[in-house]
Amino acid sequence: MSAGVPDAVALAADARSCTEAALAAIADAADVAALAAVRPELLGKGSPLSGLRRRLGSLAPAARPAAGRALSEALAAVEARYTERLDELRAAERRAQLEAERLDLTELHEPPPVGRLHVITQTQRRLEDVFCAMGYTVAEGPEIETEWHNFGALNFPPGHPARDMYDTLYVDHGSPGSTLLRTHTSPVQVRVMQTRPPPLYVVAPGRCYRQDTADATHMPVFHQIEGLVVDEGITLGDLAGAIETFTTAYFGPGFTSRLRPSYFPFTEPSAEFDVQRPDGTWLELGGSGMVHPSVLEVCGVDPERWSGFAFGFGIDRLAMLRYGIDDLRDLWTNDVSFLEQF
Ligand code: DAH
Repeated sequence: MSAGVPDAVALAADARSCTEAALAAIADAADVAALAAVRPELLGKGSPLSGLRRRLGSLAPAARPAAGRALSEALAAVEARYTERLDELRAAERRAQLEAERLDLTELHEPPPVGRLHVITQTQRRLEDVFCAMGYTVAEGPEIETEWHNFGALNFPPGHPARDMYDTLYVDHGSPGSTLLRTHTSPVQVRVMQTRPPPLYVVAPGRCYRQDTADATHMPVFHQIEGLVVDEGITLGDLAGAIETFTTAYFGPGFTSRLRPSYFPFTEPSAEFDVQRPDGTWLELGGSGMVHPSVLEVCGVDPERWSGFAFGFGIDRLAMLRYGIDDLRDLWTNDVSFLEQF
């Protein structure tokens, strides 16, 4: 309180200095918590500005209303500035929080490593695609077969020398020699004819097994694809046409095919088929022939009404050829750096 100055004037001066001090304290508060902490000393009952009210009573009655209003306005101004600063600080804190917790949706991450189909599977699917486009459907049979499906039904009677073409792996199941790992996909012909009525246009890809020492061109496990067509009036010309259509569809224009006489117990006549590359060289691909009437009969197909052709060839060597792989064993070691080339 200023001595010697009339009370009203002194009160007004004190109110101004209290107000300035309060506004300075508000400006100094660096964050919401600091501002909230000073609120009681600026605007509370015990604050200097509120304290000035107690001096109103000592003023001349005529001076009181104006002085009271001035004090109220000072408090209101401090309150307004407080609220304004509070809003400012809250907005700043919200901005800081948003910035800190910002999600950058444009951020690029390395995609997770993606695998791929084995080169043999890719080759098998391409073959299936070509035959499906030619109107064939895909059939499957078991890899563990009965001796009857693998040999008997295909016209290899017990002791038949043609069985010696196959180094058969027998499975210890049932009576000795009754169960084996299929040596070719031809038993699927039997299973298809036994379960579906003709007309039949079917291919059957899958794994086959023969007792063989692994080297660059032989593996005891390999893949074949079998074809079987049974319909009315099917001739050797249809077989040659189907092989030729397949050859150009799979290998491309410039490739052709030929049939060479051969022998298989389950076809009559039988033929090997070769593919000629554009450079004129020949590639032996597989076996084929007209389905033997005894095979049709034993599978429940009437050979008087139906005739058919069949063919079968290896998938692994086809893949080697296409991709320039020179050792079959590389297809089985599962070395990722080798496989991811295809
Ligand atoms: N299954 C024979 C083999 O593995 C290949 C074969 C020859 C399949 C003639 C056929 C065929 O369907 O008609 O040696």
